[in-house]
Amino acid sequence: MRITVVNDYATLSATAAGLVAGWVWAKPDAVLGLPTGSTPEGMYRALVSLGLRFSSVRTFNLDEYVGIPADHPQSYAAFMRKHLFDWVDIRPENVHIPNGMSADLEAECARYDEAIQRAGGIDLTILGLGPNGHIGFNEPGAPWDGRTRPVELTEITRQANARYFRNRQEIPRMALTMGIGTILESRRILVLASGADKAGIVQQFLKGPATPDLPATALRSHPDVTVMLDRKAAQQTALSGVI
Ligand code: PGA
Repeated sequence: MRITVVNDYATLSATAAGLVAGWVWAKPDAVLGLPTGSTPEGMYRALVSLGLRFSSVRTFNLDEYVGIPADHPQSYAAFMRKHLFDWVDIRPENVHIPNGMSADLEAECARYDEAIQRAGGIDLTILGLGPNGHIGFNEPGAPWDGRTRPVELTEITRQANARYFRNRQEIPRMALTMGIGTILESRRILVLASGADKAGIVQQFLKGPATPDLPATALRSHPDVTVMLDRKAAQQTALSGVI
């Protein structure tokens, strides 16, 4: 694992965007695995301002809520339009987001994994880190060989997402997520974490035991992972010897 610590969120966003842009310039038809959440917002802004061409890029989002239609403002489809897709020249047919409104969620997940295979696999997956160490919506205990599938969200994740919804009842209880197995098949992985709130989980992710109780620790077995942190996210982790 390569670990990069930068000064602040703005630098994290610009540096991550620079890495992604470099990879897309080298492979214009790259297949990207994309996250939502507050962490990647700045990276998406920076990618838009770089004017990166997305005309041949194909994307697969990590996850989507179950029961929230794509035109709902809190859907991840809406998030992606707002932060990236409405601002770049990506082709709609090259955008893939699991359909959490499908009448057959299992079949939708199988179809999603097949679409990833048909695209030739994912070149680069970008991940945020949940407060409980989740990646995508792979909550603690998720199998490390798991495929895209319906999952129940834990209380800690629902609380973290409460800020986006008007009341508790509205916060989704289920999502579709790429599995950890799906994520590990990505050729490269970039993990982003920012802010003091993430310092504890970053420390456990990088220094604690590798265990399904902390899903992100599965990434340690992957040969090409870059972890990018700002100073606040790195503040509880003694990093010499890890870098
Ligand atoms: P955040 O979420 O970027 O909003 O902190 C990260 C995640 O839950 O994966």
